[in-house]
Amino acid sequence: MEIIKKIENKTATIGIIGLGYVGLPLGLEFAHKGFDITGFDIDERKIPILNSGKSYIKHISEERIKKFVDSKKFKATSDFSRLTSCDAIIICVPTPLNEHREPDMTYIENSGKIVAQYLRKGQLVVLESSTYPGTTDEILLPMFEAAQSSSNTKAKFKVGTDFYLAFSPEREDPNNPNFSTGTIPKVVGGVTKNCQQAAIALYDQVIVKTVPVSSTRAAEATKLVENIYRSVNIALVNELKVVFDKMNIDVWEVIEAASTKPFGFHPFYPGPGLGGHCIPIDPFYLTWKAREFEVHTRFIELAGEINTSMPYYVVEKAGAALNTVKKSLKGSKVLILGASYKKDIDDMRESPSLRLIELFYDKGAKVDYNDPYVPQLFKTRKYNYDIKSVELTSGKLKKYDLVVLSTDHTYYKEKANFIARNSKLIVDTRNLFDKAGVKSNKIFKA
Ligand SMILES: NC(=O)c1ccc[n+]([C@@H]2O[C@H](COP(=O)([O-])OP(=O)(O)OC[C@H]3O[C@@H](n4cnc5c(N)ncnc54)[C@H](O)[C@@H]3O)[C@@H](O)[C@H]2O)c1
Repeated sequence: MEIIKKIENKTATIGIIGLGYVGLPLGLEFAHKGFDITGFDIDERKIPILNSGKSYIKHISEERIKKFVDSKKFKATSDFSRLTSCDAIIICVPTPLNEHREPDMTYIENSGKIVAQYLRKGQLVVLESSTYPGTTDEILLPMFEAAQSSSNTKAKFKVGTDFYLAFSPEREDPNNPNFSTGTIPKVVGGVTKNCQQAAIALYDQVIVKTVPVSSTRAAEATKLVENIYRSVNIALVNELKVVFDKMNIDVWEVIEAASTKPFGFHPFYPGPGLGGHCIPIDPFYLTWKAREFEVHTRFIELAGEINTSMPYYVVEKAGAALNTVKKSLKGSKVLILGASYKKDIDDMRESPSLRLIELFYDKGAKVDYNDPYVPQLFKTRKYNYDIKSVELTSGKLKKYDLVVLSTDHTYYKEKANFIARNSKLIVDTRNLFDKAGVKSNKIFKA
């Protein structure tokens, strides 16, 4: 196949649609291996930033972007007509839930439409966005097969011979020091055997190991299984946290002890609720699709119910902590530490901290936040915030009735003593103070 030859001799131009947390590092990885990359995004603000060699994501280095912009290996654009010059196109657009907690497929559909508009013979298209089984062959395939060859307006494109279509789920773990885009094995499923071979040839260039599966549906399902596994296990330890707290048992101590078993146990840790673009969302893509088959995904629903109740639990614990000093949440000044959904990153999508702020507001508390990586909270689809991160000084800390540790940034661990010394009361949702060796009867675990 011509596409495989082009990939193997590195003359293939690769188009990445969606230059976010997934698409940007992937594009840079291909550029690093010598491919010419055209990155496409509808967000006009990102194009000049990236083309001037700057980064808008904390853990993606400017140095890396600048290097490939300067060598003309990487360019960003919002001109989708340039898709025709790409030999392989990888789609990395968002897959959120809508207000009814159903899959919002508009980003994939819009990308599909634009690719279909510019589709030409010999191109390989791979979808990477996390989604329900059936997306690639039910949504993208019909769009592409309806596309017409420009040389013969009557001839429709045929998958596996005129163009190639595959699904390969992203497994990015932002800021993980042990794994990055190139070192995480990648599952690949093609619509046909030729499609699979073309997609494997592509990822073999940059990924340590490709893992072929028999279909795009199997590849789509694999990603969901990975995220459902995390969601269910996190829900389990969150439930255990509540039970053990009533029994005056420290769940973190118990998990550490159980982790010494060298087989059959993998530790998961409780927290203030699920966050990020994947784990709180992707499982419900399967729930939605399963309804078509009259099947109820009870484990997924139960995990969702427990995990979404966690911010309420934290607020309840905060109320109890204030009670010990004869105060109520109403009228108290609360400082939330950490806005991002996990430590040491600047991504606050679905962050439980945002929910906590809202719940504290609802209780009549005055709420501020601090996050070294998130200087300001903006309006999102769900929340209407316009708040700036406050400085973490001793004077500021002393003004709050309660400090709630929501994200366990290393920065807070390093400052744990300082925070504990200067705070009146602390609710710790991540066991950070204990791990930092700071013990005090004004620290409450939640
Ligand atoms: N962030 C992660 O760690 C992670 C991990 C695994 C899987 N995923 C999955 O990967 C997909 C992308 O996630 P992300 O975190 O990179 O999202 P993101 O929001 O960071 O980036 C998506 C980008 O796509 C752009 N975009 C939206 N519609 C577009 C269109 N029609 N054409 C071109 N660009 C468009 C947006 O402007 C944005 O820049 C999602 O399905 C997500 O579930 C993400």
